[in-house]
Amino acid sequence: MHPKAGTIMSLFHTTPGYISGEHLSRELGVSRSAVWKHMSALRKEGYCIEAFPSRGYRLVSSPDIINPYEVRTQLKDSRVGCRLKFSKLTASTNADAFRLAEEGAAEGTVVLADSQTGGKGRRGRVWSSPAGVNLYCSVILRPSIMPQEAPQLTFLSAVAAARAIELTTKLTPEIKWPNDLLVSGKKVAGLLNEMSAETDCINFVILGIGVNLNMSAELFPDDLRHPATSLLIESGVRVDRSLFTATMLNQLDRLYADFLAHGFGPVREEWQRRCNANGRQVLVNDSGTECTGGLFIGIDSDGAMLLRSDNDKLHRITCGDVRVI
Ligand code: BTN
Repeated sequence: MHPKAGTIMSLFHTTPGYISGEHLSRELGVSRSAVWKHMSALRKEGYCIEAFPSRGYRLVSSPDIINPYEVRTQLKDSRVGCRLKFSKLTASTNADAFRLAEEGAAEGTVVLADSQTGGKGRRGRVWSSPAGVNLYCSVILRPSIMPQEAPQLTFLSAVAAARAIELTTKLTPEIKWPNDLLVSGKKVAGLLNEMSAETDCINFVILGIGVNLNMSAELFPDDLRHPATSLLIESGVRVDRSLFTATMLNQLDRLYADFLAHGFGPVREEWQRRCNANGRQVLVNDSGTECTGGLFIGIDSDGAMLLRSDNDKLHRITCGDVRVI
């Protein structure tokens, strides 16, 4: 998008009603016919813009694209989202963010893409990333914490994504340990943290967040290990992708500020409240044959799940497939 068109979008988002051609030409420092040309270009990109000779221009609707200008204008003046990088197509936003972080990108830089050819999932799996429907996002953080505390940050992104779903839809997501977001028991979002660290300090952490927003059932691959869904499938309503992105980044910013000021406690408490295993009996299949059962007690400071079995023994679970019974 042309930078002047970006300014027009910012003005549309901050000005209610019509904006006169004269005001726009003054704000942009261009002639009124140049304003008209920018409006035509925006209409070609799918924006519906009404023009009334006596009143000026009004934005009626935006296309279903993640537009960095629209995201930026809806972000609070905050650390997360201080820089936004957007591409239509990339291999993986996590890989891009990792490279940018190695090159010195600032904390809070966010990498967004409309589609990914090699979206990375946990345990070397592929994250299905078709164009025009979902959110693929990676955030660079540089916290002064010990490397073993880094898993705590995944819990921040899970809570931020859960809050964003609640704020933009009528759905109530649940979190499944370690960090899947479920709606009606099906996976709607996945999180992948990557880190560069020394023995005693973190250089940076990449929070990778993928949320299935407007994906239709036929776009899901056939070979999924667990049932998956999207917000559109569950609610029947399309999500405004830029609004969802900005809402989630604003929540992540608040959670991260809280984390730096007060530690892991507050986010751990909210995460546990939102967890599908909260107060329930679970079975963990840790190696394909071994099963551990018990009452879900909570999560440890390194993200391990704590279970109390019938004989009162406390178990720390660091990996495995969890089933609530
Ligand atoms: C999982 O397996 O559940 C984690 C999926 C994480 C996917 C997101 S999409 C944005 C970011 N870029 C990637 O390549 N992966 C993460």
